[in-house]
Amino acid sequence: MSIFRNFPHILHGGDYNPDQWLDYPDVIDRDFVLMDKAHCNTFSVGIFSWSQYEPEEGRFDFVWMDDLFERCAKQEKKLLLATPSGGRPAWLGTRYPETCRVLPDGRREEWKGRHNHCWTSPVMREKLSIIIGKLAERYAGHPALAGWHVSNEYNGECRCPLCLKKFQEFLKDRYFSLENLNRAYWSGFWSHGFSDWDQVSLNDSALDLVHVDWLRFNTRQLCDFMAFEIGEVRKKSDAPVTTNMMGWFPGVDYWRVAGLCDFISDDCYPTWYNGETEYTAARFAALHDMHYTMGDKPFVMMESCPGIPNYKPYCKIRRPNEFQREMLLALGHGADGTMYFQWRKGLGNCEKFHGAVVGHDDRDDTLVFQRVADYGARLERMAEICDSRIHPRVGVLFDWESNWCLANCKGFGGGSAQQPEETILRHYQALWSHNVPLAVPESLSDFSRYKILVAPMLFMLKPGVAERMAEFVRAGGTLVMTYLSGYVDENNLCFRGGFPGGVLRELFGIRNEDIDIFEPSTQISMLLNGFSFAGKTEFSVLNRCEYIHPEGAEVLAVYHNVFYAGHPALTVNRFGKGKAVYLAAEMGEDFLHAFYGKWLSEAGIRPVLPNLPPSVRASKRFNDRFAYYFLLNMTDREQKVSLPRKMEDLWNGGRAVTEVILPASGGTVLKAVEIPETASSL
Ligand code: GLA
Ligand code: ZN
Repeated sequence: MSIFRNFPHILHGGDYNPDQWLDYPDVIDRDFVLMDKAHCNTFSVGIFSWSQYEPEEGRFDFVWMDDLFERCAKQEKKLLLATPSGGRPAWLGTRYPETCRVLPDGRREEWKGRHNHCWTSPVMREKLSIIIGKLAERYAGHPALAGWHVSNEYNGECRCPLCLKKFQEFLKDRYFSLENLNRAYWSGFWSHGFSDWDQVSLNDSALDLVHVDWLRFNTRQLCDFMAFEIGEVRKKSDAPVTTNMMGWFPGVDYWRVAGLCDFISDDCYPTWYNGETEYTAARFAALHDMHYTMGDKPFVMMESCPGIPNYKPYCKIRRPNEFQREMLLALGHGADGTMYFQWRKGLGNCEKFHGAVVGHDDRDDTLVFQRVADYGARLERMAEICDSRIHPRVGVLFDWESNWCLANCKGFGGGSAQQPEETILRHYQALWSHNVPLAVPESLSDFSRYKILVAPMLFMLKPGVAERMAEFVRAGGTLVMTYLSGYVDENNLCFRGGFPGGVLRELFGIRNEDIDIFEPSTQISMLLNGFSFAGKTEFSVLNRCEYIHPEGAEVLAVYHNVFYAGHPALTVNRFGKGKAVYLAAEMGEDFLHAFYGKWLSEAGIRPVLPNLPPSVRASKRFNDRFAYYFLLNMTDREQKVSLPRKMEDLWNGGRAVTEVILPASGGTVLKAVEIPETASSL
């Protein structure tokens, strides 16, 4: 199914704010000329329009929006209409200050900015219900309405009395009794036995769990608010709903938000020009894969920048092909829409220099406009990729709650050393560099669809996860786990009897006694036992490694140059029909690339295309009839790719080719008849 009903096109367009230009009707007329020239078909509107709809409490004006809907219908543009909760009008924030958030220090914020309303405030919900009701009533049946963009980048917390009371209710729901709470909170520590729910303080840095629970609670608050907004929409409209996520934003467990969306959408602003193009691309490939995994279907890149966002350290004029490569990265990893923030640069305020399709000069012959228009025309010719699928057999876990537990412990170097994102990404990148399709599930996802499951720094194990992992391996899967995994349960309480906890110790056939976290001058290496990776048998260990003991596992590599030399650094345990691999040390890119090459080849997982040059990344989507290959050149030199069979160069007009020249920093899309996985790796 396409993202919008009966609209089999790749979504192309973006955030459109005609409400900033109501005094300039010529500009809006011009927009509608330029939209066609740019081959744009979809716009997100009304995201921050509440004060235009309702300039004073109870006085409404929808004429300008009516006009926009009419024009869009006439020009066959589709609209994602926002619920306007991302920005409250001044009258609302000042007349009802209880809609403003309370900060951790207890001060109530003044009205300003955006994305900062209290999650609980009844007035906020009452006023929002009125405006959403009017929007839904007015536009539900309109032919231009394709879906709902619920709020915008939900985030943040409020500590007002109403929210804090809700937090107490959350604790009661979670723990039922003070006795359970005291047990979970390890309250014998520093005389922390609680005799009343309101004694649990968010300001108490001695308590590890309260901060994790607060994050869980905030996700629940946000979901509750979102469900409320969707409920108001649903009274009148059954068009699909989504909200734009922010990648691996640390404050929200997006797995929970995903469950409320009809399709997943995300905002993507890579920081290029940092000397690590491939790493940056891998980060966004991983995010795209997570968004595909969340919905198990194509998603939408809701915001991206056709130029460069004004807040990036280097706001370079985009070099040729880089923009196209960024878009192809998303499409190749399952996006059925690539949209922009923003359509047009405003004249004032803090985003006036943020990249946009249309600049202050209003021209259609600029580098950015031409590039977008050219891309839009290509998308129209590639619409058949809509709803084509990805079939990953490898999953790399990303689990917000586990990350929160690790971040809220004292002991492993602190700061970024306790944020698994970087490690997850390095492991993802090593797999990605083999050009195999990847998924990014959470620990509650179904593992049975994968052949290889990778759990980098899965510090916390939710109930049942270890058992499901054992089941996965018993049935023939390969599970790879790293240092700092399986230390605590969902209450951030350490497992008794050694790490990794629960059944994992038996599954991996090892015991982890301690972790060695060293200063940069320490040099420890790993020696491979009777085999080599790319001709090498010794690799440097970076930053940290665990001191582990085999308890039945085969030792594949040992430490060297340290007093515990000879102790295992890498083990594999055969369990049922599968393998459980434990990597006890942090390793660099060259090691990880070869390491995953080994497990992929043992599992029979091949690259989507064979014999690609080293810096070309390939991904594949397919439907019943065709396979679509997306090739990206990660270098700034042209690269030649020989193909294993004849394909159509869909990106460049459909010519049949057996080899393609990828332009510097560019990419292409190739089409071939699909050969099912069982018949061939292609
Ligand atoms: C976010 C917001 C947009 C805009 C962009 C700027 O993604 O949703 O409204 O502020 O950032 O990059
Ligand atoms: Zn509040």
